[in-house]
Amino acid sequence: MPIPKSEYLSDVWKDGLFKNKVVFCTGGAGSVCSAQVRALVHLGADACIVGRNIEKTELVAKDIAMARPGSIVIGIGAIDVRNFSSLKGAVDRCVKQLGGIDFVIAGAAGNFLASINQLSVNAFKSVIDIDIIGSYHTLKATIPYLTESAANHRTNLETLTPSPRGTGGRIIFISAPIHFTGIPFQTHVATAKAGVDALSNNVALEFGPVGVTSNIITPGPMANTEGVERLVRSSEMADIARKQPLGRLGSVRDIADATVYLFSNAGSYVTGQTLVVDGASWRMPQAI
Ligand code: HXC
Repeated sequence: MPIPKSEYLSDVWKDGLFKNKVVFCTGGAGSVCSAQVRALVHLGADACIVGRNIEKTELVAKDIAMARPGSIVIGIGAIDVRNFSSLKGAVDRCVKQLGGIDFVIAGAAGNFLASINQLSVNAFKSVIDIDIIGSYHTLKATIPYLTESAANHRTNLETLTPSPRGTGGRIIFISAPIHFTGIPFQTHVATAKAGVDALSNNVALEFGPVGVTSNIITPGPMANTEGVERLVRSSEMADIARKQPLGRLGSVRDIADATVYLFSNAGSYVTGQTLVVDGASWRMPQAI
């Protein structure tokens, strides 16, 4: 059974918004990224998701394809973003099968709770490698296609008329608000996400002149996601939700809607930004 649209997309977006567009997503079998891709597919895109686990990635790809009859969603497993040649192989396959790449979501991330004393050198490095090096690899492998897509979707600079072909040439990096304040037992993740943010900000400046936009989406504590389930005991979840400034945890739909905004014409002049979708949770650290 397809997941009901209301679980991953608000009712405000136009059907066909991303018709003929292709999204490439790392970490695409995870709860947050799969909702982002599902929303884009529902609105007309085809997609390629990659992940480490073959079975899970292929299964989630099939599930996402149910969001729109006739869509093509490729799931490529056994891809570790730390390995550039394997990731590049997945990008090449995506381009060969789907014709190009218009949007990228760099979502693969590592996370677990550990104090600085508990963290081995390899544990710290693993998260840095997955988050920073993996995001860089994703950028490096896809930027030629994003640049090509941006060239095909340029706004007319004299009339400021958006391209009739829609949008393209956009990348979103998934971050976390952990380094804004610092949170105990998350030193490895905070350090990694600070690097991811720096990467995105530089991409915005260096590739702005060719029309590529680069932004960060920073989810806060999200209900029913592996990330939060790893960090918070399920018995504590209701109490944490109640303490949030908005009185609830985020949903994957909140992140999917933010993604649609940034990839749509509504987000055309937004680049080099961090869109924090956390209900102001990070401003109240005692809420977590
Ligand atoms: C201490 C740990 C550990 C733990 C792994 N390690 N788990 N150390 N506590 N709980 C150490 C291992 O002992 C090892 O070090 C090193 O990390 C590498 O582990 P490996 O098992 O070899 O696996 P590897 O393939 O390198 O990947 C490790 C991993 C990854 C980083 C743990 O599998 C992972 O994080 N998966 C979770 C993915 C996930 O949930 N992502 C969602 C993130 S969402 P040694 O020294 O023994 O070799 C998110 C948002 C949160 O982050 C926002 C909240 C507001």
